[in-house]
Amino acid sequence: MNQLQGSPWLLAHRSMLKPNKPMKISLLGNDYVLWQDSRGNINALPNACPHMGAMLSEGWCVQKADGSSTIACPFHALEFDNAGCTVLPGSQKETKSLITPLELIIQGDFIWSYGGYEPKIPIPTIMNEIAAEFEFIGSTGERSISTDILSLLLNMHDYNHQNGTHRSLFEIESVQVKQFIDEGLHSHAYLSQPRKQPNFRDIIKNPGQLAMPKVLEAHLENFFPFMGIMHGDNNLLSLKECHFYIPESANSSRVFVLMYMKAYSPIAHLIKGNLLKLIDIVIEQDANILSKIYAGTPQRIKMNNEVGMDWVRRNYKSFPHSR
Ligand code: FES
Ligand SMILES: [Fe+2]
Repeated sequence: MNQLQGSPWLLAHRSMLKPNKPMKISLLGNDYVLWQDSRGNINALPNACPHMGAMLSEGWCVQKADGSSTIACPFHALEFDNAGCTVLPGSQKETKSLITPLELIIQGDFIWSYGGYEPKIPIPTIMNEIAAEFEFIGSTGERSISTDILSLLLNMHDYNHQNGTHRSLFEIESVQVKQFIDEGLHSHAYLSQPRKQPNFRDIIKNPGQLAMPKVLEAHLENFFPFMGIMHGDNNLLSLKECHFYIPESANSSRVFVLMYMKAYSPIAHLIKGNLLKLIDIVIEQDANILSKIYAGTPQRIKMNNEVGMDWVRRNYKSFPHSR
């Protein structure tokens, strides 16, 4: 099954992992437990305990004198270190590694992984550049959705669903793809979307509306298949809305968003919380429609502005090549 093996996947931002709190992650059909120790080291092991298969992510972390920590199994409390070794009761000696750690590539706060597959495309440097220059506002919109990775990617690069899926939020009158720059697995889309102006009641219901101008000008930068960045600029702030896509298994995919900004006015700081909430609603709406699609329905209608989806389909077929 083509789940784009060989792509890097951003599993989480460090802030999503509370120290010594195990987190379950699924990637390409396998489950893992991730945990961060109090020194900031991040560990990842297969989630099935090699004793009798209990989910290690349901267990707890045990901090050691040097600040490292082990993961304790919730069933019989065997403790595994980051190499997958344990000390059996009554013995003083560590076993050899019983489960193979998942290889992670940690870049600052970013936790990447190829899921154990041979890397076919590199990790781009853009997240490190954004993190160096912008203030991190937070993560939002994390959802595990019952859909395959291709359907998720099509939705995320669909420039026509604002008036259906997101009609209550954006009230867009029309969508115009001003330019689509296709650079293989990397692309830029410049959209212009005039919107109906919110009335007073709309603003009360959703103060995030205030952050939205009359014409939504969007610059989307896409990195097939794992990431899409919305670059937003106005006189209040400069925004980087970074969406990440992760194939959990053949029919489950995860998405989350990391938000960064540069404030040009103190007002920008007041709307940070609203922005996170707004994006969370957007992703909820996407998750909802993705669970209400008949998979495999032949597409007999083509709309304008499907260039993003065409780009996804082509790259999905030819991955890791772009044509
Ligand atoms: S199943 Fe994990 S210790 Fe027994
Ligand atoms: Fe959407």
